[in-house]
Amino acid sequence: MNAIRHTPGDGTVEIVGDVDGGEVRVTVADGCGGIPEDDLPRVFDVAFRGEAARSPGGGAGLGLAIARGIVEAHAGRIGVANAGPGCRFEIRLPV
Ligand SMILES: Nc1ncnc2c1ncn2[C@@H]1O[C@H](COP(=O)(O)OP(=O)(O)OP(=O)(O)O)[C@@H](O)[C@H]1O
Ligand SMILES: [Mg+2]
Repeated sequence: MNAIRHTPGDGTVEIVGDVDGGEVRVTVADGCGGIPEDDLPRVFDVAFRGEAARSPGGGAGLGLAIARGIVEAHAGRIGVANAGPGCRFEIRLPV
C-alpha cells in the first residue's frame, strides 16, 4: 500500500520473491522519488510519518513498525534503501 500510495499513476511497483543465500527474499521497489536520507532509518519507528506533503492518505505511521515486528518475530530482517526512481524494501526470512 505504501508503494502504491507514493508512486505516481504512470509509475511502476515491482514485487519480486526469490531465494538468495539460503533465505527467502521479497522485495518491493517503487517510484516514490526516493525517501529523504534522514528519514530512511526512521520509517520503521512506531508513529513515524514523513513530511505531510510526502505522506498523503492520513496513515497512522504503524504499517512498517508492524511489518518489522512480524518479520523479526520470524527471525527475519527488513530494510529499505533508495534505488532507481524510488525506494526498495527488502524482507529476508530463513527458509
Ligand atoms: N514506499 C514509500 N515511499 C515513500 N515513503 C514511504 C514509503 N513507505 C513508507 N514511507 C514513509 O514512511 C512513513 C511510515 O510508513 P508506515 O507504513 O509505517 O506508515 P503510514 O503509511 O504513514 O501509515 P499506516 O501504514 O499506519 O497507514 C510514511 O508516512 C512515509 O513518510
Ligand atoms: Mg503504511
